[in-house]
Amino acid sequence: PQPLRVALAGLGTVGAGVVKLLDANRALIERRAGRPIEVVAVSARDRSRDRGIDLSRFAWADDAATLAVAHDVDVVVELVGGSDGPALTLARETLAAGKPFVTANKAMIAHHGLELAAIAEQQGVALKYEAAVAGGIPVIKGLREGAAANVVSHVFGILNGTCNYILTEMEEKGASFDDVLAEAQRLGYAEADPSFDIDGVDAAHKLSILSSLCFGTAVDFDSIAITGIRHVIAADIAEAAALGFRVRLVGHGEESSKGLFQRVHPCLVPLSHPLAHVSGSLNAVVAHGNFVGRLFFQGRGAGEGPTASAVVADLIDIARGETGPAFAMPVAALAKPATAPAGDR
Ligand code: NDP
Ligand code: HSE
Repeated sequence: PQPLRVALAGLGTVGAGVVKLLDANRALIERRAGRPIEVVAVSARDRSRDRGIDLSRFAWADDAATLAVAHDVDVVVELVGGSDGPALTLARETLAAGKPFVTANKAMIAHHGLELAAIAEQQGVALKYEAAVAGGIPVIKGLREGAAANVVSHVFGILNGTCNYILTEMEEKGASFDDVLAEAQRLGYAEADPSFDIDGVDAAHKLSILSSLCFGTAVDFDSIAITGIRHVIAADIAEAAALGFRVRLVGHGEESSKGLFQRVHPCLVPLSHPLAHVSGSLNAVVAHGNFVGRLFFQGRGAGEGPTASAVVADLIDIARGETGPAFAMPVAALAKPATAPAGDR
């Protein structure tokens, strides 16, 4: 069978992880995909940087935006990051050229996902972003399938591994906020600009995507009320623990007759609730459907291995020829949500 030829933009935590995973599980992936999956061209800023992978076997592009057209590839994977800039240019050019596109970039999907999905639909190719929400947890596939036939009343969860790691280490080890954040960066959990993590913006990007999937509405990032964990101090965590609670950064989306309500903020979660036991870089997502009942997803939400796992799962889907809609339904059918004022909830 013909290999699926992949261009890979970005060779940082996730990009290097994708190369390592494809190398390590090559035979298994080929059997499951029905054909080999081969990276043929790559791009990053610094060609000389040691990434623990041999780059000599790949064509190199200094400008990621050229990857879709300048190389003989079947699919482009974007792991650069940023809602605009080279990631968005690459996405538009790839899809407009009629090639499928895989990304882990929740910022770009939150801000431009509908535009990109519309191009993908026009071209009859896939836009896949499983890694963009909750790292290794197959929550995009899980909710698209699991909630497909349901009226979902609400979706909520722990959507940022860096914040959850900080809150957990502060509670369990008495570590300082700044020390744990530095460790999260070293472990590859944090965004290039970690203020996206600690100010709740990354969790809000993910919540906007989950809400769209669950409620069949257009992605609506701008209406989310966001408070991060920047001002959570050790005393808050200790007092919460003394009262039988844990502090967790929770994203919550709810649809009612009043409209769509979306919010990200630190919550006191009682020890009796499963979210209180989601620790370290783990994420969890809970959704309630009128026929399926409660869906609960948990797993590693950040880092090289889990995120690469989700990216390669998308590549396997593409190798099999899957071209389903990027969101709950075709873009034109997604309802424009009315924002519920917080005070009306
Ligand atoms: P990194 O910062 O580790 O890697 C980014 C890569 O992009 C680097 O290889 C960098 O090159 C390259 N790059 C940056 N700017 C440019 C540019 N202008 N042109 C070409 N290449 C560029 O990020 P991550 O791997 O952590 O994240 C990548 C994406 O995955 C982001 O969208 C992130 O939000 C998302 N994600 C990350 C997760 C994680 O746990 N890390 C989990 C889920 C999603 P160089 O190496 O030369 O500097
Ligand atoms: N910075 C993100 C997090 C990466 O910490 O959850 C995974 O999306």
